[in-house]
Amino acid sequence: MAEDQWDDLDSEYTVNALATAIRAGGHLCEFFEGDISLFDTLRKFKPDICFNICEGHFGDAREAQVPALLEMMHIPYTGSKVLTLALALDKPMTKRVLTYHELPTPLFQVFEREEEPLSPEIHYPVFVKPTREGTGMGVSGKSIVYNDTELREQVGYILQRYKQPALVERFIEGREVTVGVVGNLTGVVANRLPDDDDAPRVQAGLRFLPPMEVDLKPFETTDVVYSNRLKVALAEELNYLCPAPIDRDLMGELNWLTAAVFRVTGALEVSRVDFRLDVHDNWKPYILEINPLPGLTPGISDLVIEAAADNIDHTTLVIMILDTAMKRYGII
Ligand SMILES: Nc1ncnc2c1ncn2[C@@H]1O[C@H](COP(=O)(O)OP(=O)(O)O)[C@@H](O)[C@H]1O
Ligand SMILES: [Mg+2]
Repeated sequence: MAEDQWDDLDSEYTVNALATAIRAGGHLCEFFEGDISLFDTLRKFKPDICFNICEGHFGDAREAQVPALLEMMHIPYTGSKVLTLALALDKPMTKRVLTYHELPTPLFQVFEREEEPLSPEIHYPVFVKPTREGTGMGVSGKSIVYNDTELREQVGYILQRYKQPALVERFIEGREVTVGVVGNLTGVVANRLPDDDDAPRVQAGLRFLPPMEVDLKPFETTDVVYSNRLKVALAEELNYLCPAPIDRDLMGELNWLTAAVFRVTGALEVSRVDFRLDVHDNWKPYILEINPLPGLTPGISDLVIEAAADNIDHTTLVIMILDTAMKRYGII
C-alpha cells in the first residue's frame, strides 16, 4: 500500500468536533464507524438523519458506499448522494462531465499503461496524478513532468503505487484557489446550465464562502503544487490567504463556475471546488475537481478556514449543512 493510503480519513478529533457541534445545535448525536458494522448500529440507533463524512476504505466508489447503505435503509443523510460521490472521486469522469458542459478544465489523458503515447494536443509540462484519490495523495513536485522519460516514470509510479490509471493533465502554472459553498440550488431545472449567462438563477440558494488561496511561495523550491506533504505534514505551517486577493470580476467568475460544477455534478448541501489560475493567460481559472465531502477539521480544513473568514464558526458551519439537508428532506 502507498504510505499516504489513509490520509483522507478523518481523525477522532474531527469526528468529536462534529458531534460536539451537532449536539450544540440541540440534537442527540452518536458517532458510528462507516464500516461493515454500520448496518447493525444504525438499526439499533434509528437516527432521523446521518451527518455523512465517510470517505470509505476500499474500492472505486468508496465515498459512495455509506450513502448507498443509507439509501437501502431509507435513512436521510447530509450531502451529496451516491452518484455524485462516485463521480467526484473519479477525476477523469468528472472532467468528462465538465467538458460536456463546456466548463474549463485542463486538457487531459488517462494512462492505463506506461508506454501509451501522449496525445499531440497536450504539450509539456504536464501534471501526473492518481485518478481516484484525495488530500494530495500521489502529488508532489515530481508530478510535474517535462518530457517522455519523466512521463513514463511518473505514470509507472502511479500505476504501481496506487493500483489505478494515471490522470495526465496540462500543467497549469499559476495560483491555487479553492471556493467553498453551502446550500442547495433552488428553482432550477435538471442538471443543465442555462444557455444565457443567467448567473443569479444558477446560483440561487447557494452561499459562497470567501475564496481561499494557498500561498505556495514559501515552498517554491520544493512544492510548487498543493502536495500531500503540504496538506498533511506541513498543514499547520501553510499560509492561507482568505479571502484570496482577487478582483470582483474574477471572484464572480469563480463563484459562477463553482455553482455550475455543483449543478452539473448534482452536488448537495456542501462542496469545495479547486481551481488553478493560469499565470500565462490572464489568470484564467481552470477547474481541477469538486470535493463533495470537504474536510471539516476545526481550524485546519480549507472549508472551515473559508467559513471563519465570513465569521461563520465551526459549529455554525456544521449546523448550516445539517439544517440544509433537513430542509431538503422536509424534516424541518
Ligand atoms: N493540472 C494541474 N496543473 C497544476 N497543478 C495541478 C494540476 N492538477 C493538480 N495540481 C496540483 O495538485 C494538487 C492536488 O490536485 P487535485 O486534483 O486537487 O487533487 P486532490 O486535492 O484530490 O489531491 C492541486 O491542489 C494542485 O496544486
Ligand atoms: Mg484538490
